[in-house]
Amino acid sequence: MRSLFQRKQIADPSEAPSGGLRRVLGTGDLVMLSIGAVIGAGIFSTLGTAAAGEVMPDGEVIRHGAGPALTLSFLLLGVVCALAALCYAELASMIPQAGSAYAYSYATLGEIIAWIIGWDLILEYAVGNVAVAIAWAGYLNSLLSPWVQIPGWLTHGYYNVQASSDPAIRALLDTAPRVFDIPVLVNLPAFLIILVITWLLVIGVTESTRVNNIMVAVKLVVLAIFVGVGVMHIDMANYTPFAPNGFTGIHQAAAIVFFAYIGFDAISTAAEETKDPQRTMPRGILLGLGVCTIIYVIVGAVATGLIPYQQLKAADPLAHAFEVAGLTKFSWIIALGAVVSMSAVILVFQYGQPRIFYAMARDGLLPPWAARIHPKYRTPHITTIVTGVLVALGALVADDAATYDLTNIGTLSAFLLVCLGVPVLRLKDPSRHRPFKVPFVWPVSLAGAAACLFVMKGLPVHAWERFGIWLAIGLVIYFAYGYRHSVLRHGRPPVELEGPGTPPPAA
Ligand code: ALA
Repeated sequence: MRSLFQRKQIADPSEAPSGGLRRVLGTGDLVMLSIGAVIGAGIFSTLGTAAAGEVMPDGEVIRHGAGPALTLSFLLLGVVCALAALCYAELASMIPQAGSAYAYSYATLGEIIAWIIGWDLILEYAVGNVAVAIAWAGYLNSLLSPWVQIPGWLTHGYYNVQASSDPAIRALLDTAPRVFDIPVLVNLPAFLIILVITWLLVIGVTESTRVNNIMVAVKLVVLAIFVGVGVMHIDMANYTPFAPNGFTGIHQAAAIVFFAYIGFDAISTAAEETKDPQRTMPRGILLGLGVCTIIYVIVGAVATGLIPYQQLKAADPLAHAFEVAGLTKFSWIIALGAVVSMSAVILVFQYGQPRIFYAMARDGLLPPWAARIHPKYRTPHITTIVTGVLVALGALVADDAATYDLTNIGTLSAFLLVCLGVPVLRLKDPSRHRPFKVPFVWPVSLAGAAACLFVMKGLPVHAWERFGIWLAIGLVIYFAYGYRHSVLRHGRPPVELEGPGTPPPAA
């Protein structure tokens, strides 16, 4: 029992990490990487469901919307994430190793908790990308709609149609072509974007520092256009009632729109590739988070002022808001910007997931092939491809709202454990050098953990059920494989690696 909670020694940050990833990223790169990862489907897509709420076809209320009080949901989340970000920053700066929250918890809370966090991070990265790919496809459709109408059965996954209460979408259940009497309902664009990005990642993409910077610039310009043009067409009447479902609405909206904040921690997965991570990581994380919160509050205020909040429920709420407000010309620009932005998010997340698998395989919790590096491209190609294929298949059929919920609950539970890890490590290893220290560590870290739990509580009961099943599967895999192969518990030499990886594609 005790060995399940065995902790990994923290490596001296000055030592070159095994595997030899190159240290190339500075603070500016991290902020760009974080904007690249953070601003995406959350603001471009979940915003609609968060404002308007969600009701199943059978009338079951999945969540209440916040209405114009969505801005308060964003502010609330800004505070919650700042607390968690401070904890991330302390651990990221003292444990600058690839693998993010997984690596931190291995050093603080022990192996089994580390495994659970690594398992949760699959929800954050891989399942999260299923949702982003679906949102990407929604905006692609609105971008192409003046010229091409892709048939509905090729742009809506089966589970998405089943969960929809829109009669036009539900009609696809009857009109779609059938194979063995099963309606063929697939989201082909979402499937294809994941495959294309996977291919880019496999071949190395050292070029994409520039590509990411361009994509970040595009998303900032597009949101600036949304705000600049939108603010002149606000109808103050749309702000009344401000909070139609009271605090319940604000809370439940926060639980789904939390998705918009996911990603600030993703940059901590690049700690092994960061120059002077002790200073750079905390700065990069907090700066990135601050910028994104300000943008979200402003965009949320404009979106809910532009049209009645109930009408924001659409696959492409920001473009849709402009269309409803009669700003059709601009809605096309918004759709273009959304497609570009979300491509950046997909890239960063598809990049992060294999590196977490890499860290877990290096510790013997996953098979050694997961840590293998391609001899020519220097990328963890096998895990990149496995991740890509699974995410693409998910994107083909999944329902976006259910996917957001599952991603959020997994990510929040990982954040919660990171918040608890900080004070635990202060007690267990008080003399270790901490380049960045959480101020008022006890109140801040405990408030961070409580805040994560509070946001989780705003998620629908289905999300909790699916999360429970996910955890159970994870534990079975741990006891079947990791428990028996753990390098730490069996004192085996580290898994043999084949050489250095590439710098991140998007930094
Ligand atoms: N925060 C990222 C997004 O909104 C995951 O797409």
